[in-house]
Amino acid sequence: MSAQPPGVERILFTEEQVSQRIQEVAAEISAKYRGRELKLVGVLKGSIFFLTALARAIEIPVKIDFLSISSFSGKKGPSSGLVRIAKDLDESIEGEDVLLVEDIVDTGFTIRYLLQTLAGRGPNSMGLCTLLDRTSRRIVQVPVDFRCFEIGDHFVIGCGLDYKQLYRNLGYIAVMNPQILER
Ligand code: IMP
Ligand code: MG
Repeated sequence: MSAQPPGVERILFTEEQVSQRIQEVAAEISAKYRGRELKLVGVLKGSIFFLTALARAIEIPVKIDFLSISSFSGKKGPSSGLVRIAKDLDESIEGEDVLLVEDIVDTGFTIRYLLQTLAGRGPNSMGLCTLLDRTSRRIVQVPVDFRCFEIGDHFVIGCGLDYKQLYRNLGYIAVMNPQILER
């Protein structure tokens, strides 16, 4: 294995652990939606690596669409609660079984906004699947239907998660080096 980049403090979940857990969650999803078609809605850009691995492991027919959001940063972190859709879905979700796919649910503001907005478009059902869940920092409650890992209160990178747009392509999930992190 090549040397870890300076941003990496320590590895939380190895590539093998991540991929194993994604297989398990994909099996849960396939069982829950058996006999139906599922539309996976990825939140760009953090969810792309997770979504592709998940989609390939799901055993029922899936459609894929993406949206992106802008959140307005406050001094205390990435979320201030103000979120808007920057790039909307390409297609309607009316009458569809929709599973929103996220990299991490932190305060919950982003997901609450997206769940409310998408639910208003008449899907048959709306669910949420996240790679990581950090419930210790939750400010607004959101229903998490599928989650791969719960994590503690440290900033993480890899598997789609970035710091200043870097590190998304790490195969593992790592705690960000606090000396490099300005938070
Ligand atoms: P929320 O609205 O606070 O739940 O914000 C969640 C969003 O903040 C995620 O979709 C990520 O883009 C970003 N975020 C939160 N925690 C981290 C982290 O530890 N690493 C990288 N991005 C994070
Ligand atoms: Mg995100």
